[in-house]
Amino acid sequence: MGTQTVEADVAEARLRAVEEALKLVKDGMLIGLGSGTTLRLFIEKLAEKVRRERLEIYFVATSYDTSLTASKLGLTERPLLDESPEIAFDGADYVFPDKWVVKGLGGALFREKIVDYFSREYIIIADWKKLRERPTGIPIPVEAHPFAAQKVVSALKSMPGVIQASIRISGSGKLGPIITDNGNFIIDAVFREVENPEILEKELMTIPGVVSNGVFALKRPSKVLIGYPEKVSVIV
Ligand code: A5P
Repeated sequence: MGTQTVEADVAEARLRAVEEALKLVKDGMLIGLGSGTTLRLFIEKLAEKVRRERLEIYFVATSYDTSLTASKLGLTERPLLDESPEIAFDGADYVFPDKWVVKGLGGALFREKIVDYFSREYIIIADWKKLRERPTGIPIPVEAHPFAAQKVVSALKSMPGVIQASIRISGSGKLGPIITDNGNFIIDAVFREVENPEILEKELMTIPGVVSNGVFALKRPSKVLIGYPEKVSVIV
C-alpha cells in the first residue's frame, strides 16, 4: 500500500471516529478537550456542529495548542474549577486491548491526565494504527522538572525492563530539549514489556522530579472509538 493511500485511509478513519465521538456532545455541556492532531480534527468538527446546531458548549483545554485552536474557532473556554467536565475527548499514541493507553508523544500529557481523570468520563478517539496487542518496546513519556531531569533519566535507566531513556530533543524550531506547556522536560523511557500498567503508572510517580507520565491505566476511558477507513469499532 502506498504512503499516500495509507495517509488517506488514516484521515478517513480519524474522521469516522471523530464523527462518532461528536454524537456524544449535547447542548450545555462542559467538556474536556485533549491535544494532538486527532483532537484538532475533533475541535474543527465540533465548532462546525456548535455553529450549525446553535449549541452552547464550554471547554477545558489540555494544552495551549488546544486552547488557541478551539478559541479561534469560536468555542468558549473555561478554567478547570470545581465543576467536572461531563466528558473529556482525547487522542492516544498506543491503545491496548483492555483500554489502557499511552499518551504524550505530542508532549501534552500532564494537563491531559488532569482533565481526563477529573472529568466524569473520558473517551479516546484513535485510528486503527494506534492499536497494539502487547505493550512491548514502546516509549513511555515521562514529564519531569528540568532541575531533576538528569536524575530522572538515571532512575528510569535503573528500573527493571528499561531498554533506554533519554530527554526528548526538539526536532525543529528550537534547539535543545522540548519544553512542555508547564515548563518541564519530557523523558522517553522504552520498556521491554509493560507487565502491569497500573503499577507502572504509580511507580513512575515515586521518582522525585517526575510530574506526570503517559501511562493512562489507573482511570480507563469509558470508551475507545477506533476508526478504520470503512467503519468505527467501539471498545467498552
Ligand atoms: C498529546 O501529547 C498526546 O497525548 C496526544 O493525545 C496523542 O499523542 C495523540 O496524538 P495524535 O492524534 O496527533 O496522534
